[in-house]
Amino acid sequence: MTSANQHSQKPRCVIVGAGGHGRVVLDILINAAQYEVVGFVDSNAELTGRRIDGIEVLGQPADLPILRKQIGVTHGVIAIGDNGVRRAVADRLDDLGFVLANAIHPSANLARNATLGRNVVVAAGAVVCAHSQIGDSVILNTGCIVDHESLIGTATHICPGARLAGRVTVESGAFVGIGATIIQSVRIGYEAIVGAGAVVIEDAPPMSTVVGVPARQIKAGLIKTQSREWLIPEMTAVKQPARDLAAAGS
Ligand SMILES: CC(C)(COP(=O)(O)OP(=O)(O)OC[C@H]1O[C@@H](n2cnc3c(N)ncnc32)[C@H](O)[C@@H]1OP(=O)(O)O)[C@@H](O)C(=O)NCCC(=O)NCCS
Repeated sequence: MTSANQHSQKPRCVIVGAGGHGRVVLDILINAAQYEVVGFVDSNAELTGRRIDGIEVLGQPADLPILRKQIGVTHGVIAIGDNGVRRAVADRLDDLGFVLANAIHPSANLARNATLGRNVVVAAGAVVCAHSQIGDSVILNTGCIVDHESLIGTATHICPGARLAGRVTVESGAFVGIGATIIQSVRIGYEAIVGAGAVVIEDAPPMSTVVGVPARQIKAGLIKTQSREWLIPEMTAVKQPARDLAAAGS
């Protein structure tokens, strides 16, 4: 624990994940000064007992119930880059009775009527504009811009410097790479990947990968019908519903 953390009356918070993103989240939480950061947990047992930027790795995720009892940690932030794993670990912490905390850097700029879910990380310099909705377990990374009325679905990652114009939808599990640009009203399908630096000017199907300027598909995803439903290729009778979007719904 840092000296700044000692004798704190703030809620006690653990960071799950002691990798690169964990360091970013630690820096955000210390800057935000809302929680007392008691330590990390990480699934890599070899990290237990090590200190990351002065904060100890207390154990593994399986140790969380014990940590909760022994040191009174009540809050957690999941600092895991993989979207699916981050979402699953958040569900686990929720089941264990932890409060899923948000890590919001003081230099982030959030519109007063934007909404945030739980376990949301908003890094330094990120901007969220009017009426945007940010779902659970989203990473809005350093300096990204989410313009007005955009919907950012559960467990997505908007990488550093990505710019989303107004009324963009990013469905759950999608990844928007560093420096990518998405023009207004475009929909990025669930678990799709937008490559670094791409300029996306039309919808990206779920589970597709798009790259380049303008963006083209390098990995096919699902097929869009005239009714804007997504269909699984070769199985056109089976409809694949769009996954849950932002926590507040769309
Ligand atoms: C899009 C991405 C996931 C593709 O990875 P991949 O599936 O392993 O694809 P490959 O590296 O095999 O590349 C396939 C083709 O796409 C091209 N390509 C890959 N990424 C590209 C990009 N960002 N922009 C333009 N072209 C790209 C490759 O040059 C290659 O072209 P070729 O077939 O003509 O040789 C990856 O390149 C990328 O951009 N990742 C984002 C990284 C990022 O934002 N990190 C920030 C973390 S905070």
